[in-house]
Amino acid sequence: MKYIIFSDIHSNLEAFGKFLTLKRVETYDRLLFLGDLVGYGPNPNEVINLFKKLKNLHSVRGNHDKVVAEIESSSFFNPVAAFSAEWNKNQITESNKKFIKTLEKGPVIVDHFITICHGSTFDEDYYVFSIFEAKESFKFMTTSIGFFGHTHFPIIYLLRNGKIDSVPLTKNIKIKLDPNTKYLINPGSIGQPRDRNPNSSFITLDSSKKEITFQRYTYNIRKAQKKIRDAGLPEMLASRLESGV
Ligand SMILES: [Fe+2]
Repeated sequence: MKYIIFSDIHSNLEAFGKFLTLKRVETYDRLLFLGDLVGYGPNPNEVINLFKKLKNLHSVRGNHDKVVAEIESSSFFNPVAAFSAEWNKNQITESNKKFIKTLEKGPVIVDHFITICHGSTFDEDYYVFSIFEAKESFKFMTTSIGFFGHTHFPIIYLLRNGKIDSVPLTKNIKIKLDPNTKYLINPGSIGQPRDRNPNSSFITLDSSKKEITFQRYTYNIRKAQKKIRDAGLPEMLASRLESGV
């Protein structure tokens, strides 16, 4: 079975539209989405309309999805995140808001051996930024492999013989999975990468070969930036796409 794991689209139509045209993405068996379909970017409805058409999809909701769908308020967001979430909320159609409400609260277990979540396996809003936080997340993971988003930072945490290591994912790479190791993996972000590389990223998992690949791709950043600026969204949201922070 071939899985494609992707996260944090954030209303970036240029990045998401390109993702859907990639050869590797066209030949999947299952798509696993880790949350934050909307927020930050200028095209929430267009992104949701494409997302709705996907088949064999398992997904969880993100913190921005909750605010845009009015499940939670934006009062805990920083000013830029809150402004853009409120802007997305005003743009979104009623039927798309209803659709976001159908996204599940993580963690969700897929095919009995994969956990998907937005932040962590015990709290959908908790950030896993370090080995300390990964350790907490491993404690609540009942499967051998888990995928999380939220930080927009591509990385693998490995739990082997009670010890945790981490490997940041910086370039396209293929990794063989070891049956005696547990994995917590972040594919990075489609719509707003933050590891100082502006290219979007995702992961594939081939369960029969027992290997994962990390892949990056380019998209039309200039066009996405122009739309952000034309919409009157904060300038920082346009400039960060270029620097990948
Ligand atoms: Fe996010």
